[in-house]
Amino acid sequence: MKEKLEALKVDALNEIEKCNDEASINNVKSKYLGKKSVFSDVMSNMASLSNEEKKSVGMVSNEVRTSITEALDERLKAIKEEELNRRLQNDKIDITLPSNKRRSGSLHPLTLVREEIEDLFVSMGYDVVDGPEVETDNYCFEMLNLPKSHPARDAQDSFYITDDMLLRTQTSAVQIRAMLANTEKKPFKLICPGKTYRRDDDDATHSHQFSQVEGLVVGENVSLSDLKGTLEVFAKKMFGESREIRFRASYFPFTEPSYEVDVSCFKCDKKGCNICKGTGWIEILGCGMVHPNVLENCGFDHTKYQGFAFGAGIERIASLKYGVTNMRDYFTNDYRFLKNFDRKEI
Ligand code: DAH
Repeated sequence: MKEKLEALKVDALNEIEKCNDEASINNVKSKYLGKKSVFSDVMSNMASLSNEEKKSVGMVSNEVRTSITEALDERLKAIKEEELNRRLQNDKIDITLPSNKRRSGSLHPLTLVREEIEDLFVSMGYDVVDGPEVETDNYCFEMLNLPKSHPARDAQDSFYITDDMLLRTQTSAVQIRAMLANTEKKPFKLICPGKTYRRDDDDATHSHQFSQVEGLVVGENVSLSDLKGTLEVFAKKMFGESREIRFRASYFPFTEPSYEVDVSCFKCDKKGCNICKGTGWIEILGCGMVHPNVLENCGFDHTKYQGFAFGAGIERIASLKYGVTNMRDYFTNDYRFLKNFDRKEI
């Protein structure tokens, strides 16, 4: 019986060697180890053996079964591996082939600039607030120290909706809203970016709709040097570290004193070029110390509180930053223009 089992093992191992797929492995398995296999045939004669023989035949049969099972497992593993390698070889992808470029959307240049300004002022502790585009004459002019008869109103030709409602001509109206909403009359810092409207004829440098960002800081001991320092940080962030600013005396009804701020030309560095029209400086915004009348109109005691304010045109800043020469490009949404700001080609 032992010889039979040994011979059976040799036959089985030979056949296993020749197997090339999972099905033939299963066949060999049932032929040699299954219920009606050669192996169980041999084993069925165990009953007739003496106890002594049973022991030694049992040891051989265990060894034979283990060897066949191990050989089957090993061969099956090898077959699966070969199959996997074959598949990997056949399904190979040429990763060096160039792909079709897909373009994804990008932010509008005015949004890019607005967000850059917001990020900067948020980092300096300012709140970013919103205000309505349809505004009252009272908030847009009157409370900002611009009574109906004031000549400065002419500079901001407005779209009136009723006698006392209009499309806001300046984000400065939000100054009034913010100060009135501040019921405890506590110090605060805010910027308000948003759309503004004026009755301009549209051309390369004018648009009846444009955007501004307003800044307002109110507190105790707020001085002109705070305003200067803040605007210097702003100019450097938007136009480069080596930029300088200068203040030119100006007039706005809601600030006293008032200034227009120029930044040193980023193209020629003050030598004079076509961008700065030969002056070396470019005007970027209006600003000043909040007029005592405006503080008082909003319930802030001007003997205790001071404030500074500024207002800048977002289109102007974007045009200077990106070299845009036609303001209409911002509003016509021509893909050929917009794609210049698409830095996310994949
Ligand atoms: N609102 C002004 C304008 O539209 C800009 C401006 C100037 C805003 C001075 C301010 C300021 O807050 O203090 O021309």
